[in-house]
Formats: sequence, structure tokens, C-alpha cells
Amino acid sequence: MTADSLLTCSALHKTFRLGHTDLEILQGLEAAFPRHGLNTIQGASGSGKSTLLQILGGLERPDAGEVRWENESIYDWSRDKLAAWRNLSVGFVFQAYHLFPELSALENVEFPARLARRSDPALGSHLLDQVGLGSRLHHRPAELSGGEQQRVAIARALRNNPALLLADEPTGNLDTTTGHGIIDLLLRLHEEHHNCLIIVTHDNAIASLGQQTYRLEEGCLSLR
Ligand SMILES: Nc1ncnc2c1ncn2[C@@H]1O[C@H](COP(=O)(O)OP(=O)(O)O)[C@@H](O)[C@H]1O
Ligand SMILES: [Mg+2]
Repeated sequence: MTADSLLTCSALHKTFRLGHTDLEILQGLEAAFPRHGLNTIQGASGSGKSTLLQILGGLERPDAGEVRWENESIYDWSRDKLAAWRNLSVGFVFQAYHLFPELSALENVEFPARLARRSDPALGSHLLDQVGLGSRLHHRPAELSGGEQQRVAIARALRNNPALLLADEPTGNLDTTTGHGIIDLLLRLHEEHHNCLIIVTHDNAIASLGQQTYRLEEGCLSLR
């Protein structure tokens, strides 16, 4: 681990049991993600990219190995500490947006701040403005296009100014032009927020934007 790594993982193993077969998804995976780095991960469908992001973001416990944050092993923390860390220090952007359908754009963005008891609609509005949706604050997800919903999801992911932003195929459901707009937005906000950004993508052009470009293959990450 280098001094400037935000997140490191060592000897990560994860196996899923499917019927009578064991699927060894992660097989001793090692990686170090720099504090302000832009990292991309590619890999075949089913290679374990989403599983890895869930493990890195504290959502899925590995069978063995460690994820370390500021030199502490996150899965050694209590449930409450892990949940608070996830809310304050990690942002997630998913392929399918995962907005709350009954909440407005602004309420979606404010949700992580409300959880942390620091809601401030002025800040939420500002973020929506930054993603180009300043005039759509009170619209619900169903009233927004896919690209607009993803912009709301990005604003929500950034609401607590997390040090780590995980984006799992964020353009997977979007047409090429809209997808490139989303990537431009992620990169611009990455520059402004100085976070560690990890993008999983199938798109070679997007992958090549990474300062570290990884490939997940046979349960391990390798730098390309
Ligand atoms: N909760 C689960 N239970 C059983 N198998 C799972 C589970 N999550 C993922 N898998 C399996 O693990 C493999 C890797 O999944 P995933 O991490 O989603 O891959 P990727 O994101 O690279 O497409 C797949 O074969 C998937 O079916
Ligand atoms: Mg996936």
C-alpha cells in the first residue's frame, strides 16, 4: 500500500453457491486506489465487477481478505459504523439509477443528507443545478428521461461529498451521446470534489480515461 491510497484491498475472496456448484468470483484480489484517483475497471459479464464494487463500498462482506480505509479494516467495524461510513464517505451510481420513485428529484438528492441529519435543500438544489437539472427539482423520476434520472443519481451520490464514488456501468442503459454526457459530468465533478472515482464500464473509450485502468479476470484485477 502506498501512503496516498484511500482504499486498499488484499487477498479478497468471494464465492457464490449456485445449485451444487461453487462460483469462485474473487480469488485473492489485490488493489490500491489512490485518494484522488480516477480508476476504471473492465471485465467480461459475470466476471464479478458488481460484486467487487459492492464489497469495496461496504455492501457485501467478502469470504476472506480485507478492505482497508485509512488503515482500518471496514468489515471489522460495527454494523452502525459501517452504515454511517457508507452514507458519509461512499457514493454509489448504478446502471439502473435506483432512485426512489415516490420522491422528487430534490428529495432523492437530499435523502443521504437527511439520513445524516444534515438536510439542507439549498445545497441539494445547488447540486441539481450543477448537473443541469436546476429547473426539475420537484419532478419525480417517472417524469425524467433516463439520462436525467442518472444525473439525479449522481447528485445524490455526491450529496455528502464522499471521498469515494463508485459507478457501476453508469452509462449502460443510455444511448451513446447521453452516456458520454454522463461521463463528462462524472469527470467534471470528480475534478471539483477531488474524490476517488471508480468506474466500471464496457466502453473502451471510457476505460482508457482512467489513470489506473484495470481488468477483472479470473478473480483478480490487473493493471492494463
Ligand atoms: N447474490 C448472489 N448469489 C449468487 N450468485 C451471485 C450473486 N451475485 C452475483 N452472483 C454471480 O456472480 C457472478 C458475478 O456477478 P457480478 O458481480 O454481477 O458480475 P459482473 O458485474 O462482472 O457482470 C455472476 O455469475 C453472478 O450470477
Ligand atoms: Mg455488473
